[in-house]
Amino acid sequence: MASALKALYDEYVGVDGNACTRCPRLVKNRTQVVFGEGAPSADLVIVGEAPGATEDEIGRVFVGQSGTLLDEYLAYFARDDARWLMSITRRMTSGYIPTDEEYDQIRDQLIETEKIYYLNAVLCRPPENVDPSKEELAACRDRLLKCIYAVDPLLILAVGKVPVKALLGKDIKITSDRGQVFDIEIPGVTGGIRYPMLVTYHPSFVGRTGDFNSKTGPGQMWAQDLELAFALLDDARALTRDEPRPKRRKWEKK
Ligand code: URA
Repeated sequence: MASALKALYDEYVGVDGNACTRCPRLVKNRTQVVFGEGAPSADLVIVGEAPGATEDEIGRVFVGQSGTLLDEYLAYFARDDARWLMSITRRMTSGYIPTDEEYDQIRDQLIETEKIYYLNAVLCRPPENVDPSKEELAACRDRLLKCIYAVDPLLILAVGKVPVKALLGKDIKITSDRGQVFDIEIPGVTGGIRYPMLVTYHPSFVGRTGDFNSKTGPGQMWAQDLELAFALLDDARALTRDEPRPKRRKWEKK
């Protein structure tokens, strides 16, 4: 972990996993603080809402049902030089369900080949998985902004309205604003740094609706947003680092 992230980890997680005590309701409810994981200098930062039951128990972000759904869809767009990801996602498209170890491997490969960092708007699990309160979002915002500043990505992907509220400071209507890119400003040493933030549905919403196949339903729109995220990333890598655009699988629209 790069030193700026390590300092934030020490401040919020600490040796016992429970260093931060800013939010009384969350401190009472949580098992541990769930920090974030990924490539320390990631190109893509994914921001979710808050840890769920599995994340709270294990201490890792996005490892429950919504996390595996997110990784499955991200992996679908694997670059053609990421051979293992390509082959497992093709098997998954034909109905194969990965083992827990393979899901871990999918996460590791996504982090390595796409340079992703996974974060949440708040670090601790709210009771009954309700949305974090305005005060809890505000209390965790400084940490969120500092993490993004430390990683300094090319693109932020906000999944669901909670991370958008945390980063944009206002509510949006996710059904009409998903698929849009917003410009956000993160405080830096010499002033604000602007980042593009693509907004899409939260995976748990997509999973709950169960609507993966109807033409304009959440599953199809979500997949198209993730495809857009990779297209934007490839553009940014080409523009800033002269990297050739990789070949990727195209989403087959219904
Ligand atoms: N939902 C989130 O938003 N984040 C997680 O880490 C898990 C579920």
